[in-house]
Amino acid sequence: QLVLDKLAQNGPIQDTRTLTLPGHSEPATTSDAQIILLGALNSLSSREMLTYTTHETMSHVLTPEGSSIALKGSHEARVWAALPMKGQGKPVTPKELESIVGSEVAKIGQGRAFKNKWIAKESDGLVRLAESIDDATQKDMREVDSTGTLKAGEKALAELRKRKLIVLKKGQWFTVEKGKNFSTSISKPETDLTVDMITSEAWKNAVFKKYNFEAEGQQLNGGALHPLLKVREEIRNIFLEMGFAEMPTSSFVESGFWCFDSLFVPQQHPAREVQDTFYLSDPSTSLDPPAEYYAKVAKVHEHGGFGSLGYRAPWSEAETKKLLLRTHTTASSSAMLYKLAARCRGEDVDDGLEAHSGTTRNESGSKDDGFRPAKLFSIDRVFRNETMDATHLAEFHQVEGVVADRGLTLADLIGFMRVFFKKMGIENIRFKPAYNPYTEAKVGNSGMFRPEMLEPMGFPKDVHVHGWGIGLERPTMIRYGISNIRTLVGHKVPIENVEKSPAVRF
Ligand code: PHE
Repeated sequence: QLVLDKLAQNGPIQDTRTLTLPGHSEPATTSDAQIILLGALNSLSSREMLTYTTHETMSHVLTPEGSSIALKGSHEARVWAALPMKGQGKPVTPKELESIVGSEVAKIGQGRAFKNKWIAKESDGLVRLAESIDDATQKDMREVDSTGTLKAGEKALAELRKRKLIVLKKGQWFTVEKGKNFSTSISKPETDLTVDMITSEAWKNAVFKKYNFEAEGQQLNGGALHPLLKVREEIRNIFLEMGFAEMPTSSFVESGFWCFDSLFVPQQHPAREVQDTFYLSDPSTSLDPPAEYYAKVAKVHEHGGFGSLGYRAPWSEAETKKLLLRTHTTASSSAMLYKLAARCRGEDVDDGLEAHSGTTRNESGSKDDGFRPAKLFSIDRVFRNETMDATHLAEFHQVEGVVADRGLTLADLIGFMRVFFKKMGIENIRFKPAYNPYTEAKVGNSGMFRPEMLEPMGFPKDVHVHGWGIGLERPTMIRYGISNIRTLVGHKVPIENVEKSPAVRF
């Protein structure tokens, strides 16, 4: 109303800092007062009753410490005020001074008061030297508080900023002019066009509230999925689209048998050493694996079999029984494949897998050897004893896929990888050979599982299995432009990163 009345009486307002707000005695020079005015200007301009222009200023405001000095005086002045004049009373001991002005004021104030020769030390305490003092700091604080600056100039301001008594603050003020719908009375604008308004033709003279397309929606403080979970979900969907079933991977603790031996990883393999693998101390040993299968695995390692020479190295039962944090989800895949082979071993067990229709060329003739093809995947945590840095933690998520069918070849694996990565938006891939103890030929981080691994499980010779694994963290870091893994995983993750991270679409 104040703004509208001013506009009606005097025309355009050149500077809103000259206005005096209702209930105030001073003009609205402070930034708080201008913020109140801005609220009014916004609501009136949305009704086109006025237009305004914003001007920015920089001015100084007091910090809480500065405000306290403006009110109670500088530390040195408060120390001086607490003391009796020399020879006119009992000197105040440093302890007493602390209890009067507080320890902080006493400490800082004494130094300055001595320097100014305002106070002196006697044998039994502190006394005033100066009859009266000029508290320049308090004066400065009061000047800054009312004018936003100091007549003394920038050098003095800089000194006070350094002492953290004042800070520079951006402020605003406005010039205001009448708008298209100017009036001194504020009528409530219509927000809806109603049937009544149309039939009575009242809409012709009505003032409608404008849509505010700039209004931000309310912040929703609901739960949010972690970026890793979003990428995990996308990758999960790719697997499901391709007909894969998810493997159970809840056992973070595995035995050396399932994590390494069943995969034909030699017992002397460096990955098994404590520098790479976390071993459990309590309990430290696992239950026995299935006896018949165990015997076959031990034999193929030590003496060979299934067309293999084996490692020809002494077999250690203790090594198989060591409990460890799984270093790869391939430990779970191996246990799952052993289950899948149960029917081939003639066991009447439920492998928990849905019967899968696939190519079942049975080379052993018409006789059903029990094998059912399977496409399995998992995405879960694995643990490695790594030196931690910006891209490595001691744990990460592994994405793993396993396909079992008769007569699969390396070409099937390569073809599958092309399809899978294409679905992730990666088309330019190159294949190169590498080595894994459990795979015969390995491309990327993948390969065809060896007969030394599959045949002891009981799979017929013509059943081939290929598998592969990638990490979940790296693709997530790339998708979200995160360069340090600690901002993705762990206690230093900024929670607003999680709340605001967009959904991922491959
Ligand atoms: N176990 C491998 C790793 O941890 C991934 C892999 C799985 C490779 C299956 C081949 C076959 O990197």
